[in-house]
Amino acid sequence: MKKRFLPLLLVLVPALTLAAAGGVHLDKANIDPDNQQSLQRGARLFVNYCLSCHAAGLMRYERMGHDLGITEPVVAENLMFTGGRVGELMTVATDPDDAVEWFGTVPPDLSVIARSRGVDWLYTYLRSFYKDDSRVTGVNNLVFPDVGMPDVLWELQGWQKPVITTVKDSDGTERKVVELELEEPGLLSPKEYDRAVRDLVNFMDYMAEPGKHDRRALGVKVIMFLLVFLVVAYLMKKEFWKDVH
Ligand code: HEC
Repeated sequence: MKKRFLPLLLVLVPALTLAAAGGVHLDKANIDPDNQQSLQRGARLFVNYCLSCHAAGLMRYERMGHDLGITEPVVAENLMFTGGRVGELMTVATDPDDAVEWFGTVPPDLSVIARSRGVDWLYTYLRSFYKDDSRVTGVNNLVFPDVGMPDVLWELQGWQKPVITTVKDSDGTERKVVELELEEPGLLSPKEYDRAVRDLVNFMDYMAEPGKHDRRALGVKVIMFLLVFLVVAYLMKKEFWKDVH
């Protein structure tokens, strides 16, 4: 009886993951959590372009500086725009009531967004804004339709426009596919922009679990110890049993 459900599950699982992404193909973020320079560049982008609206209320500037190898004076001078001390949390000055008036909703805290949305979603989202005159913000987003967020990185990326084509599936049904095309270039080339977003997502992934790097490093050490211990234990066993036989 139970076996009958298995094929059903196998069919459902990909369908569910697709549904979570709204049916849009997600590009791979390919982040490198061990690359400290990428994390530093990501932190810089984050405080410059995101922290004015979104808070990262679970993160302290001090901890970020320590983990990313940035000294306290540099953090205070280059990465803190709200004043205050480095021991403070990365909160935001915007009043929630103002935010609702401006954007129709309060920009969510981004501390753990990489865990709820996933890095591939974030990477695709930040590269999928396109011009849409019907929206108050003048933009829309492929992976987050009718999003309230303006295209805050337009200066770097430039403006994209949607190109709609109709493709025929193998069974003959027609399907509309929306692709984005760069209409006006920004300060960065498409390749440079992808790299910048990769850095930013790398930083958001770090922020979502700052201890991940240490946890992984510790895990490797524990496994190494267990392997060495296995050899010692085996040799001891041989030594003990030598006398018994
Ligand atoms: C001008 C204000 C503003 C800035 C600056 C801004 N955002 Fe947003 N963001 C918003 C608003 C408003 C929403 C909520 C959108 C909605 O629910 O329709 C949002 C939503 C999001 C979401 C989706 C959250 C969810 O619901 O899962 C992500 C991710 C995000 N922003 C990331 C960023 C990043 C990264 C930056 C910096 C590059 C940034 N935002 C800069 C206003 C802003």
